[in-house]
Amino acid sequence: MRRGSIVRILGLAAVFAAIQAVVALVFKWLPTSASRQMDRITFVYWFATVICIGIFAIVMAVIVYSVWHFRVQPGDETDGPPIHGHTGLEIGWTVVPALLVIAIGVVSAIVLSQNGRAGTNPDHVTVTGQQFEWSFQYPDQKNLKTHELALRLDHATRLDLESLDVIHSFWVPEFGQKQDAVPGIHTHIIVTPTRTGDFTLICTELCGLGHATMRAAVHVFDDADYAAWIKKQQAGGSTGSPGAAAFASGGCGGCHTFKPANSSGQIGPGLDNLAADAKKAGQPLDAYVKQSIVDPNAYIVPGFQKGVMPTTFGQSLSGQQIDALVKYLTGTT
Ligand code: CUA
Repeated sequence: MRRGSIVRILGLAAVFAAIQAVVALVFKWLPTSASRQMDRITFVYWFATVICIGIFAIVMAVIVYSVWHFRVQPGDETDGPPIHGHTGLEIGWTVVPALLVIAIGVVSAIVLSQNGRAGTNPDHVTVTGQQFEWSFQYPDQKNLKTHELALRLDHATRLDLESLDVIHSFWVPEFGQKQDAVPGIHTHIIVTPTRTGDFTLICTELCGLGHATMRAAVHVFDDADYAAWIKKQQAGGSTGSPGAAAFASGGCGGCHTFKPANSSGQIGPGLDNLAADAKKAGQPLDAYVKQSIVDPNAYIVPGFQKGVMPTTFGQSLSGQQIDALVKYLTGTT
């Protein structure tokens, strides 16, 4: 090949690379990282992207140059010359991509293994998914149970995931990782937050009618704020009465609208007109509310479906909590 051709192809490649670099850099493809794991994943992402930009630019340059340079001349009806291939070129375009793919594989494997390591003394949180809410238990904090996840800045936390019913999946976009919560299987994920702030845990596995609402608040605190938050939660959080606390710990607001709790869930029936609903069901108010909590399929408010609300509240809430919850919902606290 003549030297001029190579210079032209390289010039075209530079143009294509520049266009792709603009597309890669101008748009914000990923959320701003908030964890060490996501920093590593972002590195892999850019490592692979730069390689892809290089390959794509060269391929496009060769195609455009060939289409232009070797186009048929007017009136030329002859066959093209018989070509036998080019051994050197073929070895080159086999070996170079193989090396690049191996490089991406090695870098990914290293990052995967680093991200799987929790270090010597991680915090622990058990994350439980259930239709359609998340709950968190802190074995290092006297088994505190909450409906919001709090993590310490710059400390690795091992999150052990479990599910009470179907497959859910843990995803905080700024942490850069996803992990399924599967009934009967133990899965875990390591998160080492790198900036404080509020994030959102999103269920990223289609798990039923309320999937889109299955979210939880995530806070990253420095050590002092974390200790204060834990203390506040252990003291009963910001909720007032035992009924309100049961409402919060049951995650009821995720699915039900209830003005006193400031909740606006739309999965299940609203709870602001329970007296009217009980009348329609032909039951005394207290009995109706209690039955709806412990045996939700016994009576379904018209317009809603059976089998959506968890049937586990009779076990997961104590008798006292259920009584308090009934009082809270019926406005007799
Ligand atoms: Cu749980 Cu989607």
